[in-house]
Amino acid sequence: MNVKPDFSKHANQAATAPAFLSVWDMHAYYGESYIVQGISFNVHEGEILALLGRNGAGKTSTLRAIARLSDPEVKRGEIWLDHQPLHNMSSYQASQAGLGLVPEDRRIIAGLTVEENLKLAQIAPPIGWSLERVYDLFPRLRERRTQEGVTLSGGEQQMLAIARALCRDIKVLLLDEPYEGLAPVIVDEIEKTLRIIKEQGITTILVEQNAVRALQLADRAVILDTGGIVFDGTAAEVLENKELREEYLAI
Ligand SMILES: Nc1ncnc2c1ncn2[C@@H]1O[C@H](COP(=O)(O)OP(=O)(O)OP(=O)(O)O)[C@@H](O)[C@H]1O
Ligand SMILES: [Mg+2]
Repeated sequence: MNVKPDFSKHANQAATAPAFLSVWDMHAYYGESYIVQGISFNVHEGEILALLGRNGAGKTSTLRAIARLSDPEVKRGEIWLDHQPLHNMSSYQASQAGLGLVPEDRRIIAGLTVEENLKLAQIAPPIGWSLERVYDLFPRLRERRTQEGVTLSGGEQQMLAIARALCRDIKVLLLDEPYEGLAPVIVDEIEKTLRIIKEQGITTILVEQNAVRALQLADRAVILDTGGIVFDGTAAEVLENKELREEYLAI
């Protein structure tokens, strides 16, 4: 039976109901390398959390650990999603529980059209978004439904990767550097989509090197440095805090 986690020991926990997604004292390793060094943070339902920090701070590792991929291995700590213990789950089970990870390399399947990539992600019976709903959100993908996925532009591939996650019934979208390598006008387009996804009630963790853009979109931010958390607060607080920005985000 899944029990409601007690987060009274969590220093950053607001005096409200437990958060939708909670990471508590998570320690993760690649083999002997100790990378994620005991982090705790909460994400509330329907919010966008920016997970920021310098190169090598541990952002991707944190997303992978939450998504329960085999590397890095979580050796200690708890991860809860909507009262379900993710830390006891495989990546497949975590995905069934509602986590959708969009990795940095996007993983579009070669040899398949846009629509085939989306259909492959749909589970039977389809309980995720219908193709029409996905195409309404990404009209560019509708226009290119018969084009091979890997021949899309970088921005369109990012849209396809997000769309594919939505084809499953996700509650939380984990995005690893979705703006990487994209022109500002395409970033605008993806940002607009992320706002609509938020309006649909989906919770997002956004990892981005483009910290300013991420903070403009996010409700809250967590900043990592060498595998630990150095800041947990609102996005506005980070934007207003010159020292924090200079020291950890170089902006
Ligand atoms: N497969 C791996 N095996 C060993 N060490 C790894 C592995 N992947 C990442 N690391 C190390 O873990 C640390 C954190 O890496 P991670 O990729 O999580 O950082 P990041 O914050 O996502 O950085 P970036 O902004 O460059 O993407 C780094 O020191 C990195 O070298
Ligand atoms: Mg990374």
